[in-house]
Amino acid sequence: MENNRLLSAENIIMSFGGLKALNDVSISLKDNEILGLIGPNGSGKTTFFNVVTGIYAPTEGNIFFLDSDIAGSSPQDVARRGVLRTFQTSRLWLELSILDNLLLGMWMREKPNSLTAILRYRKVKEDFRVKAAEALEYMAVFSEELAGSPYRQVKELALVDRRRVEICRALLARPRLLLLDEPAAGMDPSETRELMRDIRKMQEKAKSLGVIIIEHDMDVISDIAERVVVFNFGRKIAEGTFGEIRKNKEVREAYLGKEYADA
Ligand SMILES: Nc1ncnc2c1ncn2[C@@H]1O[C@H](COP(=O)(O)OP(=O)(O)O)[C@@H](O)[C@H]1O
Ligand SMILES: [Mg+2]
Repeated sequence: MENNRLLSAENIIMSFGGLKALNDVSISLKDNEILGLIGPNGSGKTTFFNVVTGIYAPTEGNIFFLDSDIAGSSPQDVARRGVLRTFQTSRLWLELSILDNLLLGMWMREKPNSLTAILRYRKVKEDFRVKAAEALEYMAVFSEELAGSPYRQVKELALVDRRRVEICRALLARPRLLLLDEPAAGMDPSETRELMRDIRKMQEKAKSLGVIIIEHDMDVISDIAERVVVFNFGRKIAEGTFGEIRKNKEVREAYLGKEYADA
């Protein structure tokens, strides 16, 4: 493996009964890279994230993260090694505040025995102050406004702001690899642009972070991804810069009926 290789999924097959949701897929990612993963609905994008994050063990293939083979590891183990994700539908605690959500995310990453710290009240109080400051510093990278109103309930926030909180929560666990599953789903074009800009900003702040972002809109991905992988029916049909893949015949066909087919 190359030295700056963060993730290398090799020849992954994921079968569900007779269906190969992933069919001999290989994807690698360098440190600090933002990779776009696009493809029509049902092409295997989310399944790829599920396999990398340990929700499913691949039927065949290897997944190297840093220097370990993580194929078949548990989701907790994969997360502890530094692979974090967001889901297509938000998984925030809606009744709780922005800050509560961020702090809960931070505490969940810690080893179970640190719960004994609950018995040591002063330490917890100090810990809380430090963690809250860190959480809001990260939140401010996305939005001064959200960081400035940390006690607002998440359920009062617009979808795009909930997504910001969610991505921020994942980042506070200091991942090396962040997997974003359609973060812009349900947002209008200007919200989407803002969110992509924010994701880029936070990736720069994190310094040592690879990102794979799933989208089905090619225009959205063209904004943010340095390199793009295209799936269709569980196969990787193209890979390259946005300029390269948009010229690819198979990619155009996969998107037939959309504007790129006859562009
Ligand atoms: N747990 C599962 N059991 C059976 N089929 C599944 C499962 N998860 C995904 N699939 C199937 O795998 C294919 C790819 O799904 P998915 O990865 O969710 O696509 P995408 O995220 O690209 O829209 C679909 O046909 C889907 O129905
Ligand atoms: Mg999906």
